[in-house]
Amino acid sequence: MKKLPLGIQNFPEIRRDNYVYIDKTSLALKMADSGKYYFLSRPRRFGKSLFLDTLKCLFEGRKELFKDLFVYDRWDWDKAYPVRFSHRGEQIQQDESFFRIKQPDGYHPR
Ligand SMILES: Nc1ncnc2c1ncn2[C@@H]1O[C@H](COP(=O)(O)OP(=O)(O)OP(=O)(O)O)[C@@H](O)[C@H]1O
Ligand SMILES: [Mg+2]
Repeated sequence: MKKLPLGIQNFPEIRRDNYVYIDKTSLALKMADSGKYYFLSRPRRFGKSLFLDTLKCLFEGRKELFKDLFVYDRWDWDKAYPVRFSHRGEQIQQDESFFRIKQPDGYHPR
């Protein structure tokens, strides 16, 4: 029986270690082919992080991870793009007011 990927948001890990993966690559393909900006408004634990990591791997052209998934024969693997995530947390930590207001015990800013 396949393992459930409890708490795993890393697409390469899920694919390489043969965890259960519900194929959402048709949605990724649809999003890549239409629209421009997306706001993923889903409740907690609905797969947002894993889906973003899936998109990242797709745009990076990591073909080997998508074998047997919907997108495999439908994606142009000759193209690869750099993908960068920008998390709001980074900005907050750069803002010195963050350090004034909230510094947990033993926390040393870089
Ligand atoms: N397509 C999928 N197939 C199998 N398991 C999945 C899939 N998408 C998400 N999961 C699993 O569901 C759980 C929640 O996924 P994830 O952490 O990506 O959700 P989230 O919406 O980002 O959650 P949070 O709101 O807590 O940040 C994880 O254990 C993940 O491995
Ligand atoms: Mg998440």
